Amino acid sequence: MIEFISKNNAFLLQGETFSYAMMVGKSGFLQHVYFGKKIDEQDLDYLTKQASILSPNEDNINMDTVFGYMPSEYGLFARGDYREPAVIAEREDGCVASRLRYVGYKICKGTPKLEGLPHVRHAEQTLSITLKDDFSSLQVVLNYTVCGNVLARNAELYNAGKGVIQLKRALSFGFELPNDNYNVLRLSGMQLQERMPVTAPLANGITKLQSICGVSSHFMNPFMGILRGECGEDYGECYGVQLCYSGNFLISAENLSNRLPIRVQGGIADMGFSWQLTGGESFVTPQAYLTYSSQGLGEMSRSFASFIRDYIVAPAWVNTPRPVVVNSWETCYFDFDDKKLCALIGEAAKLGVDTFVLDDGWFGKRDDDTSGLGDWFVNENKLQGGLKKLIDCCKRHGLKFGLWFEPEMINEDSDLYRAHPDWAVHIPNVSGVRSRNQLVLDFTRKEIVDAVYDMVADVLNNNDIAYVKWDMNRYLTENFTLSLPAERQGEFMHRYMLGVYNLAERLLAAFPNVFFEGCASGGGRFDAGMMYYFPQIWASDDTDGFERCKIHWGTSICYPLSVISAHVSECPNHHTGRFTPYETRGAIATLGAMGYELDLGKLTEQNKADTIKQVAHYRSIERLILEGDVYRISSPFRSNIFAVMVVNKDKSEGYFVAERIQSFPGDYDRFMRVAGLDPEKRYLLQETGVIATGKALMGAGLLIPKGGDYSSWVWHFKQVKD
Ligand code: DGJ
Repeated sequence: MIEFISKNNAFLLQGETFSYAMMVGKSGFLQHVYFGKKIDEQDLDYLTKQASILSPNEDNINMDTVFGYMPSEYGLFARGDYREPAVIAEREDGCVASRLRYVGYKICKGTPKLEGLPHVRHAEQTLSITLKDDFSSLQVVLNYTVCGNVLARNAELYNAGKGVIQLKRALSFGFELPNDNYNVLRLSGMQLQERMPVTAPLANGITKLQSICGVSSHFMNPFMGILRGECGEDYGECYGVQLCYSGNFLISAENLSNRLPIRVQGGIADMGFSWQLTGGESFVTPQAYLTYSSQGLGEMSRSFASFIRDYIVAPAWVNTPRPVVVNSWETCYFDFDDKKLCALIGEAAKLGVDTFVLDDGWFGKRDDDTSGLGDWFVNENKLQGGLKKLIDCCKRHGLKFGLWFEPEMINEDSDLYRAHPDWAVHIPNVSGVRSRNQLVLDFTRKEIVDAVYDMVADVLNNNDIAYVKWDMNRYLTENFTLSLPAERQGEFMHRYMLGVYNLAERLLAAFPNVFFEGCASGGGRFDAGMMYYFPQIWASDDTDGFERCKIHWGTSICYPLSVISAHVSECPNHHTGRFTPYETRGAIATLGAMGYELDLGKLTEQNKADTIKQVAHYRSIERLILEGDVYRISSPFRSNIFAVMVVNKDKSEGYFVAERIQSFPGDYDRFMRVAGLDPEKRYLLQETGVIATGKALMGAGLLIPKGGDYSSWVWHFKQVKD
């Protein structure tokens, strides 16, 4: 619920678990007042009175009393507030100072439709507050939409004058927290080790998480957790912020001085960014999502996961059972022909797999990664009979067919490049940086996005394709486009992202029955922005039965399990060289959209039988993975056991997965408490026939018996109806 409380000149936004308040201060500045545990309207009397002590008083323009202490909703620049601003708008004379003052507000039904950008799909109400700059013709509209436990925010910057405004920074949101002891949680990493949680104290200065790679990146996920004092999985207070954006981003928390509040803000990274607004033009920032938990990180994660499912992922797919695929990549890389693939399809059908995904290597002249990208037509030398033969083979075996594309890329050794060398992102007369031997197509240019659309659509129109894996295997360099004048080159990175979103939007609209999976060298673009288009994303190329525990742990901090693609691959693992039991690889892969990525024909008879059981088991717990709440129980970063529990919303079913990392006598036969069940309900443990109350199971736990290195357990609890 959103209200304007006129006696306090304040706005009160009520989420399910949080309240958020701001007010119009003495001289018309929009001040942040409160974000945290639920409060009532009457609390505003006290809160706004306190906040007005920090309101700048323009009758007495003195730096110590003007803006320096004001907790801002959208930070100003060069007016005595020495924390970083939310916006830097340069006038034609070069002046960058801003003084944004409140003009008015409106509360509308629904949610803003951000043209060309992913956004929350529905909501009851949106509050829009308009601010106007005293020094330039800039107007800012701050949008606030309450979505359950999450507050969605963004800003629209409008040039109401005739002159040109150059935006040098245009963030999506800001808020401030009382100064205190906080820790910052981030999901950092690298390719093959995405979203590793790292927590460090919020020291004085700026803690800035960002990507300037052109994608949200493997290095840093567009998420920040701000943990107050002691905060664990099921206790303590924390704030979570994530961006619905897949390109360059920043999220910062600034502790300039212990006397000042902590400023938290984020949006598109300002490094190299600028955006020209001529008179009458607007710039719309991506959405940011804020949540607060008084019951630890677990609750924050569950709020974000429910939010992503309920408001971001396409409703047509969100709860739809996922295909169980076998993917050709780690199965045979580039080394395949139609016969080999038909044999794989035949094996897959026998083992319960329902979709075959043909990964990289099917098109153009693509026998390795030096050529072919951009030529989205089948290589008939390799695949005699074309895609049709494979699709027919799938149909004969009752499987669906999926196909890999990397639409944003081009190899110099391709027909597309030979025809349009200028379509690759480049700086004239500068030798470009290749990564994986490839260049990036200039998606800021409509004609290029149109051409790629036509090529991909042609393949999808002419073949019965149920599933598309959209990959993206390099970061951006030479950030320059031939399509923009000098003063607009700073727009390149964001325009590139708009091109990507545009292509996704159009393909999804044209092929509503095709299931799209996202990917970027594993999980290099794993964010809410991508989830708006792709209900599922390949989380990492690391499918090692132990490393994946860490990836599931970190990813579940911010995202639902239903968006994580997770495959069983072969051992020794191609990236780590590790052996883990087949059973364990299967168990861990059930914590996401499960699939296979290995030569099923080469499995032992035992493992083939195991595969049939794994798929059947996965189908029996799939609703929990799609819709359930995650309780992280034992961290693979801090203990010898990884354990996670998933519980459905009415708490009638629970699913527990654990892995013992190393086997040693001191760790045998230990009890592990489960979590998230209803204490009063009685549950039957399917695997053992044990019946116990939630209270007993959560209080005393269950025995994790002896097992070798990387041994695993899965337990499925079902409520016993009396
Ligand atoms: C990177 C992806 O993460 C892999 O799954 C695979 O699709 C390769 N690209 C293909 O080039």
